[in-house]
Amino acid sequence: MFEEKAVMTEQEADAALAFCAGQVEDNLPRFTTKFQKAYSESGFYQPIENNYWTTGFWTGEIWLSYEYAKEKGQARAEKFRRAGEIQIESFLERIDKKIEVDHHDMGFLYSPSCVAGYKLVGSEKGREAAVKAADQLITRYHPVGEFIQAWGPMDAPENYRLIIDCLLNLPLLYWASGETGDRKYRDIAEKHIHTAIKNVIRKDYSTWHTFFFNMETGEPDHGATCQGYRDGSAWARGQAWGIYGCALAYKYTGREEYIDIFRHVTQYFLEHLPKDMVPFWDLEFTDGDDQPRDSSSASIAACGMLEMAKSLREGEAEVYHRYARQLIKSVFDNYAVKDKSVSNGLVLHSTYSNHSPYNTCDHKGVDECNSWGDYFYMEALMRIHKDWELYW
Ligand code: GLY
Repeated sequence: MFEEKAVMTEQEADAALAFCAGQVEDNLPRFTTKFQKAYSESGFYQPIENNYWTTGFWTGEIWLSYEYAKEKGQARAEKFRRAGEIQIESFLERIDKKIEVDHHDMGFLYSPSCVAGYKLVGSEKGREAAVKAADQLITRYHPVGEFIQAWGPMDAPENYRLIIDCLLNLPLLYWASGETGDRKYRDIAEKHIHTAIKNVIRKDYSTWHTFFFNMETGEPDHGATCQGYRDGSAWARGQAWGIYGCALAYKYTGREEYIDIFRHVTQYFLEHLPKDMVPFWDLEFTDGDDQPRDSSSASIAACGMLEMAKSLREGEAEVYHRYARQLIKSVFDNYAVKDKSVSNGLVLHSTYSNHSPYNTCDHKGVDECNSWGDYFYMEALMRIHKDWELYW
């Protein structure tokens, strides 16, 4: 599959990272005490307070820029470091004051911002904030259903569900156990991973976005979409979260069966890509359909493949390296911002939330940049550029 497609080289990744770091640097004056909104409007992000589930991605871009500039011996590394530390203070205040933290996205918020700052520059405030975020995340664990509830009040049956995205929130719990020596975080993560993978992945290895359980018995009940086109379809980003989620599940649990599930979930994703390898927002759609793309899914999937490849034997690792580099080459060639007058983001043509007659989400951020699309594109470039120690 896709044998003829070009791959991104290390040199191209280096040049693309240089552009990204420049774009991040240009954005610092407006986005150091403020954060990027989740999605751009006509290509441009507006500043917001640190009060949404997506703000950690922007800080993650700052840390990736810091790493890149430091490696190149550039003086601006210090500028990125200062900005990252200012943002960490905001994350500490946010968790202390419990501002919009009553949901499962503590990993998206605190791994690329505070865990990254702690790993890279030893930020003690980052460590404190991230451990508190892990404490917050485990308050959403249901021992009967053995999962972490995504959204809403904990006592409502209509909220008694997990979502596939949460697999990316769990590395925070493994990190917290490693830091504190307290197993409770990883024990919960492990239970959730098992429940999630058992239920959100369908027999054909497409994925449910969300899965409900019976509140009394904890028994699996039914799958449903929120951001996908319809219940039985495969939301492109959900499938991409599944790819990266399975790679991380294997990394942290060491359970061999997750490798095989990764292979199948990835295969499903690849088999449903259009010719340029960047998916439409739902894998139901392909070339010829008048539907928006979700370029962020390509970058997320590429990161997952590059992570999983680290644990595979040589021949198989090569295969996933090639797919990942092909995906990112296409994102770079066809979707990445090259002209700063067009956008203050990094990658165009992502879709946050596309309302359809059959789903339950609001309509927003369609065919725009979004914060995680930018972050995971940079992460993928960094992974191609060097042997990268992950923030997750
Ligand atoms: N985690 C929410 C999303 O991917 O849009």
